[in-house]
Amino acid sequence: MTLIKETDYGTPKSAAEKMVTLEIDGQEVTVPEGTSIMRAAMEMGTKIPKLCATDMLDAFGSCRLCLVEIEGRKGTPASCTTPVAPGIKVKTQTPRLAQLRKGVMELYISDHPLDCLTCAANGDCELQDMAGAVGLREVRYGYEGDNHVFKKRADGSQNIRYQPKDDSNPYFTFDPAKCIVCSRCVRACEEVQGTFALTIDGRGFDSHVSAGMDEAFLDSECVSCGACVQACPTATLSEKSVIEMGQPEHSVVTTCAYCGVGCSFKAEMKGDEVVRMVPYKDGGANEGHSCVKGRFAWGYTTHKDRITTPMIREKITDPWRVVSWEEAIGYTAKRFKAIQEKYGRTSIGGITSSRCTNEEVFVVQKMIRAAFKNNNVDTCARVCHSPTGYGLSRTFGTSAGTQDFKSVDEANVLLLIGANPTDAHPVFGSRMKKAIRNGAKLIVADPRRIDLVESAHVKAAHHLQLRPGTNVAIVNALAHVIMTEGLEKRDYINERCDPVEFARWEAFIKEERNSPEALEEITGVPAAEVRAAARLYATGGNGAIYYGLGVTEHSQGSTMVMGMANLAMATGNVGRNGVGVNPLRGQNNVQGSCDMGSFPHEFSGYRHVGDDTVRQMFETVWQTALDNEPGLRIPNMFDAAVEGTYKGIFVQGEDIAQSDPNTKHVNHALESMECVVVQDLFLNETAAFAHVFLPGTSFLEKDGTFTNAERRINRVRMVKAPMQGKHEWQAVAELATAMGYPMHYNDASEIMDEIARLTPTFAGVSFEKLDLLGSVQWPCNDKAPEGTPLMHIGGFVRGKGRFVVTEFVPTTERTNRSFPLILTTGRILSQYNVGAQTRRTDNVAWHKEDVLEIHPHDAELRGIRDGTMVSISSRIGATTLKAKISERMPQGVVYTTFHHPVSGANVITTENSDWATNCPEYKVTAVQVNLSNQPSDWQKEWEEREEENKRVAPMVAAE
Ligand code: SF4
Ligand code: SF4
Ligand code: SF4
Ligand code: FES
Repeated sequence: MTLIKETDYGTPKSAAEKMVTLEIDGQEVTVPEGTSIMRAAMEMGTKIPKLCATDMLDAFGSCRLCLVEIEGRKGTPASCTTPVAPGIKVKTQTPRLAQLRKGVMELYISDHPLDCLTCAANGDCELQDMAGAVGLREVRYGYEGDNHVFKKRADGSQNIRYQPKDDSNPYFTFDPAKCIVCSRCVRACEEVQGTFALTIDGRGFDSHVSAGMDEAFLDSECVSCGACVQACPTATLSEKSVIEMGQPEHSVVTTCAYCGVGCSFKAEMKGDEVVRMVPYKDGGANEGHSCVKGRFAWGYTTHKDRITTPMIREKITDPWRVVSWEEAIGYTAKRFKAIQEKYGRTSIGGITSSRCTNEEVFVVQKMIRAAFKNNNVDTCARVCHSPTGYGLSRTFGTSAGTQDFKSVDEANVLLLIGANPTDAHPVFGSRMKKAIRNGAKLIVADPRRIDLVESAHVKAAHHLQLRPGTNVAIVNALAHVIMTEGLEKRDYINERCDPVEFARWEAFIKEERNSPEALEEITGVPAAEVRAAARLYATGGNGAIYYGLGVTEHSQGSTMVMGMANLAMATGNVGRNGVGVNPLRGQNNVQGSCDMGSFPHEFSGYRHVGDDTVRQMFETVWQTALDNEPGLRIPNMFDAAVEGTYKGIFVQGEDIAQSDPNTKHVNHALESMECVVVQDLFLNETAAFAHVFLPGTSFLEKDGTFTNAERRINRVRMVKAPMQGKHEWQAVAELATAMGYPMHYNDASEIMDEIARLTPTFAGVSFEKLDLLGSVQWPCNDKAPEGTPLMHIGGFVRGKGRFVVTEFVPTTERTNRSFPLILTTGRILSQYNVGAQTRRTDNVAWHKEDVLEIHPHDAELRGIRDGTMVSISSRIGATTLKAKISERMPQGVVYTTFHHPVSGANVITTENSDWATNCPEYKVTAVQVNLSNQPSDWQKEWEEREEENKRVAPMVAAE
């Protein structure tokens, strides 16, 4: 294994179709028009010295190192800023150029500390490389003079430092002494990340990089994405892990385990230790960018809390007993079988995890169907994006988004509903910001004033600040305007959509009760604003809809998904680049876990268990009879447990006790079961109720695939061996075998081969193909052997697009005098989901606790000040949080995150759920907020349980 070094072509690739032929150093080269001479030279293998240029950024032309000569032209133009032209003859190496380059390097080196031997970047420093490349042998100006950081004292005795090293960021340092002021960091922050946190302050010799008003990085606007560190050609911005551990020696390309963007990374290693995660430029989803989580927050994988040995216990009050894998698997099988004998075949089941690979998920659902002999399998997507599957499948015929991420570059109008990409899907958020800076218009529909409403160089054309729970009313109002003002695309509708369903919907949507004016009181959004937004979406060119959990986690989540599909079809915005309806998936493998047959009514590829032909195909391959009745969904499992008919559960990598709504009910259900098996990295909240703990693998130890929000199947490669000695799928296959259904695979690729054999949309997928192509987007089969970036081109997968009547039905969760505010929940950039991973990293520097955001007026009414503790109570339960006064919230709405278990955000969320899929209505809970410095009863209970967990936990944590 070697260190993968990606070629830096110096300037970005040109997208032009027209080709240009020129001559460089006597060789002919043909490249797209608009390519720089530097890039053209690199493409034919000629490296021109450079410092301020890198192919992630637009050319800047400041260092003057990349000079070339062009026959017949005067001077020595910079090759990074000079585009190719037909027939020109370029020389990259002449005595004159060599002299000029040496001169430039002399100046740089005279202003740079010469501590190369002890510098963290030694061997990975472009300045060092360039000194070598230009043949620098002497520096006539000496090394002792003033430089950007040190000045001589007046008496000439000693240098004094006036710009200190900044160590404030937990993950990287900024040492201005090494800065050559090339501004690559500043441009990366602007062009790639879109945060604009850095500037070059001062002029001439005094110019220097600064985070805001010479603030520390940690106190500045910086979001720690790492783009500047990546761009820096010197050791000025360096990962602390590299400073501590030294340069990595080999790398493995794999996929981030956090959000549904699915960024590719090079895990750069020393032995089996990760030195750093570097975003991979060839990654189809991220193209070399990253966010703080994927780039830096991998420390949890070796955290001391990690459990690496199987454990069992008879009762949940007993201490855990460390046992061998054989004993744990035998014990689990015995308990599950005993439960089935006593309570029946359907008394056990399981939950798959969207944090696990496709292969791991597939094997768990297979174990439940083939070994447990029932369909009691569900997935955590139940509580996030299940309405997406239902809604998009019903209208378009596929349970997935329509576009690839790149498509946003071609969009003219972005309609962003119930999503906060800069926090939850940061790399796509940056891409979106770039599209907006390039001229796309943005409409935000969200109760909260998210960053995209207004931040550096981004301003939404419209912010529809609707009341939580009124999404369907808004989407109907938008469609009403389009249809009554004649803004629909009749040709598209006539050609591509079902005429009967369209006529029915058209009559409904044109009714006056769906007008923005009629709905204004319900949504709280001025009718004129809705009308203007509708006109913009319908007439502004390519209109693309992006949405998140603010759409799905409602009692009308599925209705809203279909409402957006209606809107897109009515305006002809499906089936080409720059348009579409695009779910931003929460966890890394939500799409994949749904694709893999994790729902109780569907096999992989969304085919009903009651379909005899499909079921028989699975029966033939799996060599066993399968149940044709759909099994229990997660909430039904909890209800059945409380009723006493559901007694055993296998929970794969999911903390249902923290993430599912109405915590008390979930805990009661778990307590009522006779065998709870948790397969995870840590003793999470659910493990407090478990009888068996099977240690899981972190993403660094997995071998398989994740499928991201754009249906992209990415390889997850094993960077190091599983710390607990077994792949998760191996443990599951052994459990299935112990239950009486023999299951065996030699490696994860065999599981993918079985998925491909049984799933038409995956028919062409194999590890071999993924290794060859990098990634593919399903459907990938004979018709599309290299995958399908855009769906529904020329026609919908289901045939004719189906318009669905989307009647607005208000949620039953209403405010009243006792509960006058609406609580809505979400996530923040530095933390992820229930925080099990990110809380065990230095990301806690940004979010030590969950807080309750409250509008100043609501706070004042209750005497609440910033930072005071408040109780928050709903009809279901109560908890205590710290208040944060925030004008992001509209009056009457409060907001919190659920990253810390002690916060108990889900103690107050209700059991209301989406009518079609049971996705919980996390986004609407009527609450009251009052001053209180007492922990809630629930929190006292939680603390007692924490104490109890400590008592029963054996000393088995990872080194
Ligand atoms: S910190 Fe690095 S990238 Fe930024 S100006 Fe200095 S040397 Fe260039
Ligand atoms: S880490 Fe990212 S946000 Fe922070 S300064 Fe660097 S590029 Fe900007
Ligand atoms: S955007 Fe998502 S996938 Fe990409 S690095 Fe961040 S958390 Fe990972
Ligand atoms: S690399 Fe071209 S001017 Fe710096």
